[in-house]
Amino acid sequence: MEELAINGGPKTRTRPLPSRRDIGAEELKEIIDVIWSGQLNRVGGTKVIAFEREFANLYGVKHAIASTSGTAAIHVAFGAINPEPCSEIITGPISDIGSVIPILYQNCIPIFADIELGTYGLDPDDVERKITDRTVAVLAIHLFGLCGDMDRLSKICKEHGIYLIEDCSQAHLAEYKGRLAGTIGDFGCFSLQQSKQITCGDGGVTITNNDELADRARLFADKAWPRGGADDRGYLFLAMNYRMTELQGAVALAQVRKAKDIVARRRRAGDMLTKLLKEIEGVKPPEVPPGSAHSYWLYPFTIDREVLKVRPEEFARALSAEGIPASVGYIKKPLYLFKVLKEQVTYGSSHCPFDCPRYGRKIEYREGDCPNAERILKEIITIPINEFYTEEDINDIFRAISKVANYYRNRNLQPCSS
Ligand SMILES: Cc1ncc(COP(=O)(O)O)c(C=O)c1O
Repeated sequence: MEELAINGGPKTRTRPLPSRRDIGAEELKEIIDVIWSGQLNRVGGTKVIAFEREFANLYGVKHAIASTSGTAAIHVAFGAINPEPCSEIITGPISDIGSVIPILYQNCIPIFADIELGTYGLDPDDVERKITDRTVAVLAIHLFGLCGDMDRLSKICKEHGIYLIEDCSQAHLAEYKGRLAGTIGDFGCFSLQQSKQITCGDGGVTITNNDELADRARLFADKAWPRGGADDRGYLFLAMNYRMTELQGAVALAQVRKAKDIVARRRRAGDMLTKLLKEIEGVKPPEVPPGSAHSYWLYPFTIDREVLKVRPEEFARALSAEGIPASVGYIKKPLYLFKVLKEQVTYGSSHCPFDCPRYGRKIEYREGDCPNAERILKEIITIPINEFYTEEDINDIFRAISKVANYYRNRNLQPCSS
């Protein structure tokens, strides 16, 4: 049996895996244009407008509204639907807190539905169970770059007359039954933060086909300031300044032109790894349902503990020692167990909106609320992946996972004295 690097054996991979992003001459050219123009604010500039137009074209939708982050992009969608305070919004418990911040900032109550074990998408049955007379929207998170059961979620939302919003922050150009993630619900929201498939450091964009919602979304990202006309500087309602700058827009514009290629390269690498991992007994790569296409923000997999008799943490540590950075859990616990939600640390000492008399209900988030999500966070192992991974890199990852899995599988067959 090959000695593991963690036990002093040779490392499978000695060179670091590629970690750079596809940023270079194209972004520089756009940035230089902006600098020479002297126009850094989007109002009066050309780059953010061009980015919005090209992003909308890429997704085949009518409207794209740029903003300053993925958190802002989700907030823009909520600002557009304009929920009454203390409305409930159902979402998933595994995400960045940026999925939930906008719910709280709209004085709404996040309600967590569990996820399905295969895709990690929202479990439609649990969503349906959690709908009340206060529910206004479902925010579906396409975790790691894969959509869940969007057909059923769309049907449920339509039947109950509530909005479906897609958090595509990790799922640029992911596909579901021939449709692009972000074009299935009423809104698609994307992060352009450094680690995302395309990036401008920090940034966001919200897409929709609904003209009325788009008008309000645009205003919401710009202090509800109608530009031009009789009502110029009208400040029509409470809204944010989420305007993307021309500098961000310049990079985002160059990036959107590369998006298809970047995602195709990530997909080639991720799908190749999935195919290879299927050969390893006790290792379970992501299950991509027929008709779906993953866009691999991170690469998640699990192990069968019955077969490998090792805890995921130990497996991840052994894999990291082989030169393949691996960790368990993505976030360490479901969102509802983080202090901000568990202890309802919101506005001053008020606990609003949870304690708002207008709500009149009591929400307590507890361990056990979403058993699948809690289980997955203890089991899932993630490794980084990006558009620069070559076949050789993928083969090294496969060899390392194979070596670690073989070790633990066979270790358990050794006599006790060995
Ligand atoms: C699923 C998801 N939603 C929302 C966000 C928030 O995006 P940002 O960090 O750009 O605000 C992220 C980013 O990490 C994310 O991964």
